[in-house]
Amino acid sequence: MVARVIPVEQFDLVIFGATGDLARRKILPGLYRRWKEGQIPEGSKIIGAARSEVARDDFREMVRAALQEFLDRKELVDDTIASFLDMLDYVTIDAKGDAGWDVLSNMMRADIVRAFYLSVAPALFGDIAKRLHTRGIADRNSRIVVEKPFGKDLATARALNAALAEYFHEDQIYRIDHYLGKETVQNLMAVRFANILFEPLWNSQFVDHVQITVAETVGVDGRGEYYDTSGAMRDMVQNHLMQLLCLIAMEPPHCFEPDAMRDEKLKVIRALDPMGPGEYVRGQYRGRGREDYLIDSGNPDSRTESFIAMKLHISNWRWKGTPFYLRTGKRLKSRVSEIAVTFKEPPHSIFGESNQWRENVLVIRLQPDEGMDLRVMIKEPGPGGMRLKDVALDMSFAEALGNDLDIPDAYERLIMDVIRGNQTLFMRGDEVEAAWAWVDPVIEGWEQRDDRPEAYEPGSTGPEGALMLMHKDGRRWREIR
Ligand code: BG6
Repeated sequence: MVARVIPVEQFDLVIFGATGDLARRKILPGLYRRWKEGQIPEGSKIIGAARSEVARDDFREMVRAALQEFLDRKELVDDTIASFLDMLDYVTIDAKGDAGWDVLSNMMRADIVRAFYLSVAPALFGDIAKRLHTRGIADRNSRIVVEKPFGKDLATARALNAALAEYFHEDQIYRIDHYLGKETVQNLMAVRFANILFEPLWNSQFVDHVQITVAETVGVDGRGEYYDTSGAMRDMVQNHLMQLLCLIAMEPPHCFEPDAMRDEKLKVIRALDPMGPGEYVRGQYRGRGREDYLIDSGNPDSRTESFIAMKLHISNWRWKGTPFYLRTGKRLKSRVSEIAVTFKEPPHSIFGESNQWRENVLVIRLQPDEGMDLRVMIKEPGPGGMRLKDVALDMSFAEALGNDLDIPDAYERLIMDVIRGNQTLFMRGDEVEAAWAWVDPVIEGWEQRDDRPEAYEPGSTGPEGALMLMHKDGRRWREIR
């Protein structure tokens, strides 16, 4: 099935940090794929901006190499690459000084969408925003896109929000959480709000508990310096897992508009109870060589967690009494992201003691093998009387929608949303601050208690303590296969 592609308006997009890893891996390949699909109108311009002195043609060659490295061979079409590279320009720029800003200003055209993607260290957000504004390069219709980490605590996030707010209005600021751009993450909203089936049961009267798992097989991947000051809590929970939790737990917004959605997500974060000792387990992979976090991160004394499992409570009418278990970690057994909603036992069984009851579970698989699976009880076929069995109503999106289904990468979708001016899948400033306001005291608690992460084997499903976190409540994690 070929997805419908609606072209966006013509634009000038400036990528700050254009020679960096994210631009090469995700942003530029994503733009190429949208160009190839015909979504980017002719005449649009993509301007790379970075500190390095690079000639325009060399920049184009660097981008060609990035496309070859990060895209499938079947996606690479010579003519399409050539016309894509023609759209590219480059400016050497000093984010904190004067060099390059006049050149950039002259490259920009009047009366078309202007977007500025800041794929740079957050410490530069304010400097760049200021120069874009004072030099008249950005106007009231321009959009500014910023990447995570958006701060490392509430104070730094507030400072970043304030630095951006000095020159840009909130409706111009696009804070990326790439999880929101994932196809199946958006599907959560469709499942909940486009079907009557689930919503009446979506509360503590019928839901026993919810599990959110984001397991990775990679280690810190050469980013030890950043990761070791961050850990799973700041790197994954404060943003990606928190956003998944919000989409699962939020009230139905009155429309699918950015602020209606974001208002509801914010209420979930604000309703989270503080998390105390005994409600979380931190872990660190300890193996040989790079499979040892202390070596992989480059910090032999590190107490940073590469894994965390937590039990959260949302104090509102809908969810009081239903725990949400979250876990995420690196160097685990396999790469799996999924959300499982486990329903309660029927109030009365008419089938007798010999039939073991199994929970109804709705599993939304975010990656890989995107799809949904609903476990239901049926009668086991055969003459042996009324014997029950639990089976899966299993749907893979690829099978249901066609095996050649081409799911766009999160970044592709998000960049096109910036050009369209649609902020629904971006985080608002107050959401980010609320998430940090919840995270901060938890991390302070660890520091005060001198909390040390528990070791786990690389390639395992995490530390023993994480299993106990569920066992002591009489529950079990779903298997990471
Ligand atoms: C990033 C984190 O935001 O998300 C990484 O900084 C993590 O540490 C990555 O590996 C996971 O993203 P995905 O899309 O591969 O699940």
